[in-house]
Amino acid sequence: MDLPKEVRYRPYEDWSTEELAKINNNVKQSPWRTSYHIEPKTGLLNDPNGFSYFNGKYTLFYQNWPFGAAHGLKQWVHTESEDLVHFHETNVELRPDTKNDSHGAYSGSAYEIDDKLFLFYTGNVRDENWVRDPLQIGAWMDKDHKITKMDDVLIRQPEDATEHFRDPQIFNYKGQFYAIVGAQSPEKSGFIKLYKAVDNNVENWEEVGNLDFGGIGSEYMIECPNLVFVDDKPVLLYCPQGLDKAELDYRNIYPNTYKVCQAFDTDGAKLIGASEIQNLDYGFEAYATQGFNAPDGRTLAVSWIGLPDVDYPTDKYDYQGALSLVKELSIKDGKLYQYPVEAISSLRADSEAFANKSETTNTYELELNFPANQKSEVLLFADDKGNGLSLTVDTKDGKIILDRSKAGVQYATEFGTSRECSIDTKETSANIFVDNSIVEIFINKGEKVFTSRVFPEASQNGIVIKSGDVTGTYFDLKY
Ligand code: FRU
Repeated sequence: MDLPKEVRYRPYEDWSTEELAKINNNVKQSPWRTSYHIEPKTGLLNDPNGFSYFNGKYTLFYQNWPFGAAHGLKQWVHTESEDLVHFHETNVELRPDTKNDSHGAYSGSAYEIDDKLFLFYTGNVRDENWVRDPLQIGAWMDKDHKITKMDDVLIRQPEDATEHFRDPQIFNYKGQFYAIVGAQSPEKSGFIKLYKAVDNNVENWEEVGNLDFGGIGSEYMIECPNLVFVDDKPVLLYCPQGLDKAELDYRNIYPNTYKVCQAFDTDGAKLIGASEIQNLDYGFEAYATQGFNAPDGRTLAVSWIGLPDVDYPTDKYDYQGALSLVKELSIKDGKLYQYPVEAISSLRADSEAFANKSETTNTYELELNFPANQKSEVLLFADDKGNGLSLTVDTKDGKIILDRSKAGVQYATEFGTSRECSIDTKETSANIFVDNSIVEIFINKGEKVFTSRVFPEASQNGIVIKSGDVTGTYFDLKY
């Protein structure tokens, strides 16, 4: 939603109790609140931030402007979880309240060090002429969730980058702390800077160089880069804005992509043996995916189910955006798989054989099997007039098509109303998680993923098998 700058950058303390009550009340009017996904209490949610393990629990923050569905003065909102399925908000925020983050506590990461959580983020600072000075800054959060910001700037804008320099990700590789930061060159192409903590002190960083990951730089900016390790293979997750469609076919306004690599040359700032660039997700919205290597050996990731510069049907209720389920990353036959963490099955309640269903709660999981050599079509969010979200699994021609054109309130139609990807012409499975206005589809246990919003009309809550010998199970989900 377009709001004037004066509204979006109004200091937090200037919002009156009455104004906040009005916003709160407006959010409650929405027919589309989800039940087992993280959504903002109010306002806009965008990137996942600071995903980490701290003090025996998982920590996950999200970017938020709390006063409406717009990108304004951003803060981080803190949530915690023991099982990566049930998250609760602690009412702790990282606020934009110092001279180093005066125009927003922008995205970043976190790492537990000596009983404290180190938060590494971008302080968005603008001067009176609205010229930006992006500062990479830090804070410590203690076990009581008390946040103490560091006074000194940790990394300043380098000479070979424009003001688009942000989203530091800290990671530990073989005992040494590194960080990568998304950047734009003066020639307007995207790149990633690699830094190293001097003497392993995360309050002191030195530049190693520009990360070589075999890109051709057709994008104009790289946001939210993350380097994670899956079975010791480096996997780079990133958002190359403006990427040339000749380099990678994608439909969303900005893509979220990845490369699987073979090795990490730290001194040479090089990811060796980087694969071709690939779409991380084939759905209508998944962005700013943040991953980290958890202490138990799993590589975990979570995405923003939303996109920059897109208006959503929930905007009129003063909120926008959600986070995806937490996904575990793995590599099979050289391919990256993403699948919800095992604990997600704890949500399964009553189950029945998959069949047409005139009414559901729109809060369920489907585990489906599509036979080989057949074109099957299933409608979710279906009404009795033939509308709904159409999923075609075509194991004859080897493709999957998700068509949203007849599912609920339409938006962002300028980017098309269907999404597709290719698959093998074999028997194919799909696990589908529906949560009122979210659908996350995992093909072949995470080989391909479609993450999307759908904003159904009240009557759109059925399931219709249009064609194909589709079998499987319907699970009611209880949070
Ligand atoms: C990505 C992004 C980040 C930035 C944040 C601001 O969605 O633009 O690059 O840090 O959002 O909210």
